[in-house]
Amino acid sequence: MTDTKDYILKLQQRASTTLQTCLENPALADRLEKAIHYAVNNGGKRIRPVLAYASAEAVGGSLDDADNCACAVELIHTYSLIHDDLPAMDDDELRRGSPTCHIMFDEATAILAGDALQSMAFELLANSKEGAVGPEVALQMVATLAEAAGWRGMVAGQAIDIEGAGIKMSEETLAKMHGLKTGVLINASVRLGAMSSGSATVEQLANLQRFATSIGLAFQVKDDILDVEGDTTTLGKQQGKDQSQDKATYPAILGLEGAKQRLVSLLDESLAALEPFGEHGEKLAGIARYIIEREN
Ligand code: IPE
Ligand code: IPE
Ligand code: MG
Ligand code: MG
Ligand code: MG
Repeated sequence: MTDTKDYILKLQQRASTTLQTCLENPALADRLEKAIHYAVNNGGKRIRPVLAYASAEAVGGSLDDADNCACAVELIHTYSLIHDDLPAMDDDELRRGSPTCHIMFDEATAILAGDALQSMAFELLANSKEGAVGPEVALQMVATLAEAAGWRGMVAGQAIDIEGAGIKMSEETLAKMHGLKTGVLINASVRLGAMSSGSATVEQLANLQRFATSIGLAFQVKDDILDVEGDTTTLGKQQGKDQSQDKATYPAILGLEGAKQRLVSLLDESLAALEPFGEHGEKLAGIARYIIEREN
């Protein structure tokens, strides 16, 4: 586990450092620029870049070639959190232990910072053609991220989440919603990392997709459990928000124990998908365990 911890730490630090280079160009509007830097630099776990980097390495790729897609998925994630916290959505005032972007700045600036981060992600990914992949794969990578982030992916999940508040959802609909709002971006992180190597096989991509589908859903199940069991200081966000907003969550639908059982079965499914990678899948397996054991 110490090995995995060190590996995760190394990749988290690499993501944070590389993200700084994405933010080097001034935003041409001072308040917007401050809001962008604030949101990107306020202490996220960088789990999506970590997955992208580790997936690249699992198929023999390099961290250098994975930098652009690792940062792109984190930029999309950061934008999604800024918008998720807005009063029109989850109306949260605390994120990563600090005021949310719209509280620190204002709603208009927070919306624009999210918009800017989203387009920045695609700009960066389009530049992957300068790495191990040619223009054709770079284009596929742009399409992969667009599909994951957009109206048939994360945005759809967020729409179902908002519409679903106060509604007793079936477990099937809940799994679909969680898969969309959280799973697809995690899936894209894993696949883009592998694609950035320029040498991932169809079979490797299919196994990684299976891995990511299970661990992506597990990620949101754990997030739901932490909302019930965590404390605000450790979480860095307000505990108990899902219940107070009557959100459809795994604990709400399966009970806390049912949600925990589901979490373990999703971990098992994700680990089974890594078996074909042998020892090359060990780092990803460690990251999967970290995802379900984390406390924030
Ligand atoms: C929180 O994501 C939102 C969900 C999709 C559940 P993370 O737990 O990855 O948030 P940070 O980036 O580490 O703060
Ligand atoms: C957020 O889910 C998912 C996205 C931002 C796409 P949550 O609303 O559960 O995330 P937290 O709990 O606020 O971090
Ligand atoms: Mg939400
Ligand atoms: Mg939220
Ligand atoms: Mg949550």
